[in-house]
Amino acid sequence: MIHNALLLRIRLYFCCSFNIMNLSDHLHHKVFQIIASVASEEKTPSYVIGGFVRDLLISGSSSAPKDIDIVVIGSGIEMAEKVRDAIGEEIPLSVFKNFGTAMLKWGDTEIEFVGARKESYRLDSRKPLVENGTLEDDQNRRDFTINALAISLNPGDYGELLDPFGGVKHLEEKLITTPLEPGSTFSDDPLRMLRGIRFATTLGFSIEMETLNAIHQYRQRISIVSQERISDELNKIMLALKPSKGFLLLDQTGLLEIIFPEFHQMKGVEQVNEQRHKDNFFHTLEVLDNIALKTDDLWLRWAALLHDIAKPRTRKFEPDIGWTFHAHEFIGAKMIPGIFRKMRLPLNEKMKYVQKLVQLHLRPIVLSQDIVTDAAIRRLIFDAGEDLEDLMTLCEADITSKNERTVKRHLRNFKVVRQKINELEERDSIRNFQPPISGDDIQKVFGIPPSRPVGIIKNAIKEAILDGEILNNFNAAYLRMLEEGEALGLIVHHELKREKD
Ligand code: CTP
Repeated sequence: MIHNALLLRIRLYFCCSFNIMNLSDHLHHKVFQIIASVASEEKTPSYVIGGFVRDLLISGSSSAPKDIDIVVIGSGIEMAEKVRDAIGEEIPLSVFKNFGTAMLKWGDTEIEFVGARKESYRLDSRKPLVENGTLEDDQNRRDFTINALAISLNPGDYGELLDPFGGVKHLEEKLITTPLEPGSTFSDDPLRMLRGIRFATTLGFSIEMETLNAIHQYRQRISIVSQERISDELNKIMLALKPSKGFLLLDQTGLLEIIFPEFHQMKGVEQVNEQRHKDNFFHTLEVLDNIALKTDDLWLRWAALLHDIAKPRTRKFEPDIGWTFHAHEFIGAKMIPGIFRKMRLPLNEKMKYVQKLVQLHLRPIVLSQDIVTDAAIRRLIFDAGEDLEDLMTLCEADITSKNERTVKRHLRNFKVVRQKINELEERDSIRNFQPPISGDDIQKVFGIPPSRPVGIIKNAIKEAILDGEILNNFNAAYLRMLEEGEALGLIVHHELKREKD
């Protein structure tokens, strides 16, 4: 949220003129004074620019910044080296000669130095041709006016805000727009189209019309951006308070179809014999916004985004039933690795977690509609394991009916399911189910090597516990093992010590 009070206060204090706004009282980090004295000694004008200034004006606070971008009229690398010497501590300095930049890591803060430059880009690459430039040249080549704000760190005007492109006004108007003609800003660096949509989403801003049209016009240029960067922006959109805004903008500008076709295919409604199904794209966005109110977990949000991803390919009109999406949860779960691979999202336990939630997302709903048996709840606890709470959160977010009574009914039913889960959990400890009899035990008792019968017996014990036929303890499992072994024609070879009842 824009801290309007701060902007207003600063404005009134400085006689309503943006040109003489001074923010020196807000430059708390020690590095600013150090840069100022090096800049003065070396006669190398330096400025803090970009996200730090934007976020300071938005939130009114600059405590513990993670990133500080410094632009110098001269060599960014030399400035970084001198600042490190002036700090006098052994802090890491990374130099990127090819880009003419250097980064100091001081505690938790990364301070990046770059020489002011003019840039022009080639059509086939995001890598610019660079020339030295003035501060204004440098501000001009930046992505958005709200990111082109700079604060002087120089003697004479230390703390003064330099805003040649109306960045403060656009912060007040909550507007994303470019310093240059937007087409050239986006054509130069197409990642900025996604950054614009991301800033609009996370800050709750609008994108100025000409800027929005330019994103549409230059959307195909996104193909020169690496998938990692695209996904990084998507993840930031996913983590916004209301992520749907970003996806609607991606759709409106035509970017969604290019970068996430599987999701774009969810758009649209078909009608047969006056029966329409719901638009799964808008439904999914509602689910995503719902879940965003409950969790900041990126992967739970991804599960919400992908829970119905197979609906377009399973959609069928069956005259006696209407629209069906048979097995979309299973097919959806199968689609997850392909989507994660293409998106360069992690192919590890995070992906498996998303896959599991997609696969199980109908289970609690079914349970809340039918008469709930203990066995069905036990199976749900067993299958969802430690992700059960998240699954319930996803299912609750999935209720998007416009009919208030329907929503209330579903929520009431879920409450019953949750209660049952709690009761059974207290009794049966199924969640982190460990079989009371191990495969080793079975081999020992019947004197057999690892083989199919061991698996059959183990599985039969698990099923009996989940179905509530036997209790989840060693003695009950032992007896069931003997019965199953006998049925398979096995002979007891070695007795194990039973537990005391
Ligand atoms: N910038 C740009 N074009 C890009 C990336 C960055 O013009 N494609 C400029 C902007 O002025 C931006 C600054 O470089 O403010 C720093 O970039 P970065 O640290 O990536 O972004 P921030 O704006 O600081 O915001 P965030 O950290 O949220 O991405």
